[in-house]
Amino acid sequence: MKGLLYYFSGTGNTKWSAEVFKKEFENLHKEIVIKNIEEEESIDLKGYNYLIIGTPVHAEFPPRIVMDFVNKLPVNDKNIKCIVYSTQGANSAAATEYIKRQLESKGYEVLVQIALRFANNYYFGVGVQRSEEEIADFCRKAEEKIKLAAEKFLKGEQFKEKSSGARVFFAKISHNGFSKMLPKLSASLTSTEECSKCGICLRNCPKGNITFEEGHAVFHSKCMMCTRCIHLCPINAIRYKGKKINQVQKKMIKSLELK
Ligand SMILES: Cc1cc2nc3c(=O)[nH]c(=O)nc-3n(C[C@H](O)[C@H](O)[C@H](O)COP(=O)(O)O)c2cc1C
Repeated sequence: MKGLLYYFSGTGNTKWSAEVFKKEFENLHKEIVIKNIEEEESIDLKGYNYLIIGTPVHAEFPPRIVMDFVNKLPVNDKNIKCIVYSTQGANSAAATEYIKRQLESKGYEVLVQIALRFANNYYFGVGVQRSEEEIADFCRKAEEKIKLAAEKFLKGEQFKEKSSGARVFFAKISHNGFSKMLPKLSASLTSTEECSKCGICLRNCPKGNITFEEGHAVFHSKCMMCTRCIHLCPINAIRYKGKKINQVQKKMIKSLELK
């Protein structure tokens, strides 16, 4: 039995969780291959018995890059079973419900659907900033839930944290509103005079949305607001609406394979 885990992660929470899934499956003598949705041009499920999809939550739903990926998945004619997980700042979100429904419409069987609470990487837009202790506690609880999810999944048992139809309905409205606001939110990003043009934000932006002009980083209108550049900048020189942001993802972002 071999599994494939596809994830997108802006600032590390979802990738960190992917590594925990891999470790827990390996403890149960099962192999998982991890793939980054950002780098996958074609989807090949040949040779895999199960599929895991991990996503952050952006305004209740998965970001567009994950939705597009799920929509591109082939129809399941090989009895592939699935786990869907989200990472988000609140206790729950409608994101896994969206993915589960898409998967089921293509013939996949979703046994596990879980929401893992982490620090909100967009606390400066909506929500609250978490302390280091709270973040460590979220990580511990996420590890416990992933362990349980892996055990149940491999026994063929269900573990589903579902969202109601009403929640999905309102999530759709909220996500559509957020998507329309994205170009405006992009315009909220600026870099300061201190920007040393190291290029780390430019190389790692999932949308190729950053260039260097007149001595510092410039942000164009394709931003998906994953906040990676903000949390990644080695000298914290990126501002949101002119404000300096506490880089709460400093530890988690290290789990990403940065360029
Ligand atoms: C633009 C944006 C919107 C977000 N919306 C929500 C939300 O609706 N609900 C929530 O609980 N968390 C929300 N979050 C927080 C992220 O889902 C959370 O920090 C997630 O774990 C980030 O995962 P990553 O580090 O893998 O990118 C949002 C984050 C961003 C950047």
